[in-house]
Amino acid sequence: MQNFDFYNPTRICFGEGQIAKLADLVPQDAKVLILLGGSSARRNGTLEEVKQALGERPQFEFDGIEPNPTYETLMKAVAFIKENDVDFLLAVGGGSVIDGTKFVAAAAHYDGEPWEILQTFGAKVMSAMPFGSVLTLPATGSEMNSGSVVTRKSLKAKLPFMSPHVFPQFSVLDPVKTYTLPKRQIANGVVDAFVHTTEQYLTYPVGAMVQDRYAESLLKTLIEVGPKALATPEDYNVRANLMWTATCALNGVIGAGVPHDWATHMIGHELTALHDIDHARTLAIVLPSLLRHTKAEKKAKLLQYAERVWDITEGDDDARIDAAIEKTQAFFESLEIGTHLSDYELDESHLDALVDQLETHGMVALGEHQKIDLDASRAILKGAL
Ligand code: NZQ
Ligand code: ZN
Repeated sequence: MQNFDFYNPTRICFGEGQIAKLADLVPQDAKVLILLGGSSARRNGTLEEVKQALGERPQFEFDGIEPNPTYETLMKAVAFIKENDVDFLLAVGGGSVIDGTKFVAAAAHYDGEPWEILQTFGAKVMSAMPFGSVLTLPATGSEMNSGSVVTRKSLKAKLPFMSPHVFPQFSVLDPVKTYTLPKRQIANGVVDAFVHTTEQYLTYPVGAMVQDRYAESLLKTLIEVGPKALATPEDYNVRANLMWTATCALNGVIGAGVPHDWATHMIGHELTALHDIDHARTLAIVLPSLLRHTKAEKKAKLLQYAERVWDITEGDDDARIDAAIEKTQAFFESLEIGTHLSDYELDESHLDALVDQLETHGMVALGEHQKIDLDASRAILKGAL
């Protein structure tokens, strides 16, 4: 196992009715800005429940954080905070609202042009406003981690940043609040959590037995509850397991002391930035092709994955690895998520621009061995046509 330094200060309040706890979680004297996405939290009563729990505290609302939150919108929230002396932020929504709130929290304290936060991947963030979240979409793990991904529309750039200053102080996870999610978002959440797990598991062995078995249990849980979450939306236990699995997939525990890949995410971000494809769908396009491309480097873990996650024990090494990749792809397809670029009306003529974007963003040595250069990324995208 590799050395690690694990830190995660986020308090999780999990279960039906937990939104009421905001009454104690948010400081009594706080002047609160509630940050929201489109209209889902307003429509389904979540916002009303939040406001009731906040009681008499002065509170404002900031609407309109988009899926794939934009710098342009988020800077309006930063201006609002400064004008109104807001001192606590509360994100109510999915990963985009929480990611957006992290950026706003850091940008409000930042000396200089806040886009630098993304350009330096968070290294220059020295402090941030305190904030909490109420999660309504199980997928990203943003509710219990220190990462955020922000898009600058004018540059067609989607970049991540990380900082220990942007862990939420708390996150409320009420599975009932996910009942109103459209099927498309549930399917996206299953795939996003699945790929977060593989990015930290399908690399090379370092003898990290707990991290490996924990990752395998998350993958198996997703394979089991994913289809059920689509078929029976109001099954509390299914939604509870999906929600907690997605959180655990990216809260740092399975990633401590093991190598990380993240090439699928970085290539996927360019697909979203240029072609507006949902985050999880970009991962479903890239991952199967990336696994085929890196079969040799990932051989030991792919064989372990085949046996422990998909129960594949027959055939030679190559056949077992191929079968595991095929099962992975079929799983994504079973959730009605297309795994080819052609499913999104993209063809070979779109590859140059995607590779150029990777170069512009410095994504020239990706993966656990930093061996995925621009040629490899092109080959992976080509393999996904
Ligand atoms: O905007 P509203 O009206 O709220 O609707 C949202 C949005 O249209 C809707 N929704 C959310 N909760 C709902 C609901 N609809 C009905 N009922 C509810 N309970 O769902 C749509 C998608 O929401 P979004 O927040 O964009 O989805 P998700 O949680 O998948 O977040 C995706 C973003 O997270 C980033 C992605 O890149 C993408 O920008 N990621 C963040 C990560 C992190 N911070 O660690 C890691 C991930 O890899 C990911 O990159
Ligand atoms: Zn993701």
